[in-house]
Amino acid sequence: MNRLIVISNRVTVPKARDKAQAGGLAMALAAALREYRGVWFGWSGKSVPQFTGQISMHQSNGVTVALTDLEEADVQEYYNGYANKTLWPLFHYRNDLTAYDRSFNLGYQRVNARFADTVRPLIDPDDFVWVHDYHLIPLGRELRQRGVKGPLGFFLHIPWPARQLLVTLPRDRALVEALFSYDLVGFHTEEWLDAFVAYVLREAGGTVLPDGRLSCFGRTIRAAVFPIGIDASNFVDMLQTPDSIRARERVERSLNGRRMIIGVDRLDYSKGLEERFVAYEHLLATRVRHRRDVFMLQIATPSRGDVGPYQNLRAKLDALAGRINGGYADVDWVPLRYVNRAYRRDELAGMFRAAQVGFITPLRDGMNLVAKEYIAAQDPEDPGVLVLSRFAGAALQMKEALIVNPFSREEMADALDRALTMDLAERKRRFEPLMHSVMTEDVAAWRDNFVNALREAAEVRVQSE
Ligand code: G6P
Repeated sequence: MNRLIVISNRVTVPKARDKAQAGGLAMALAAALREYRGVWFGWSGKSVPQFTGQISMHQSNGVTVALTDLEEADVQEYYNGYANKTLWPLFHYRNDLTAYDRSFNLGYQRVNARFADTVRPLIDPDDFVWVHDYHLIPLGRELRQRGVKGPLGFFLHIPWPARQLLVTLPRDRALVEALFSYDLVGFHTEEWLDAFVAYVLREAGGTVLPDGRLSCFGRTIRAAVFPIGIDASNFVDMLQTPDSIRARERVERSLNGRRMIIGVDRLDYSKGLEERFVAYEHLLATRVRHRRDVFMLQIATPSRGDVGPYQNLRAKLDALAGRINGGYADVDWVPLRYVNRAYRRDELAGMFRAAQVGFITPLRDGMNLVAKEYIAAQDPEDPGVLVLSRFAGAALQMKEALIVNPFSREEMADALDRALTMDLAERKRRFEPLMHSVMTEDVAAWRDNFVNALREAAEVRVQSE
């Protein structure tokens, strides 16, 4: 089997006992790499006064990890700047929050070139190289310029924006052109792929070839859909660990016979947390019977705290949580438990199991793996109900969830009411197909489908060269 070189901005190999990130991407990549010999390369998360290009190699839970430090200006211009002030908001349809500065783009190009210089010596001619996410779009071009000739794939973990939004980005064409250095470009859903193709055809004058490949900028690539899944059987097994059972029992003891609605997210404006809080407040205001017999647990792990909109969001959520609890709490009941910390995956699994409703309502999300984890954690004999935003990529696969529009607090409050009062037969009817797809369309299927398609795409390129 060929080696797999995975490259992403952040490298976190979650160990069973680590404080894991709320996002499931790190879990997915670690699971993908455990099956292949290979290396996972990325930023250490540390900054140094001057970039050195040194690599530190580690073995972490069955995965070989290669890390490099970035210099402070890189972190500001590339990570906080172009990645998280420019691309992240724009690609999540928030051009009101999108900031562009020429220095951000320069930093982005510089770090991609530095990543290429640093990782190049690790790449052998037979290796498959798989680049992840919006931080590293130009990396494929940089690697090709440094003589990498083998299969080169890119996967975008976030939405691809509508053409009308993308054209507001200065040097938008150059960003799209960079993707044409790869053999294969993958998206989570048809929706993101369609938006990408629309840009290529209508803005950049590209064409779709009879075999479905895309031709533009003098190059030909394959672009396709690979919905990511979770390491489902592993997640189900986690429910049996003592720590998971302890976390579940701890939550259950605190329920006092009440039912729990749960949300787990990074503290990010794309996750629809404000709207979610307001919808829950609307439920309490309009369905008096649910007062005192439910509560909501929202875990919102702080993220990207150096970036302005994240600081503003945190302040807004603090105020909203205070308003809801001030307005509805009683001496022995707090309607909203709002927690700004990270929990380990096994603990989260236990908490999902204890919750009658999973409330996952991003305004826009590439996929959303928490929705899948909530399902995987349920008791098949007495499953909870998933309330899921139609704007999460996951909604296209998880049609049996209660699908809601996160911009409507009434619709979300209706769905919560329906979830809280749903009978066992309907809960099971909805749960079974959801569980089936979570178990079968898992992270192994995602990885294997992508790697096989990458092999094929590279072969086709070599034949036509
Ligand atoms: C999203 C992105 C990932 C990113 C993660 C955590 O899932 O798609 O690329 O790693 O968020 O964000 P952070 O900025 O902390 O790496």
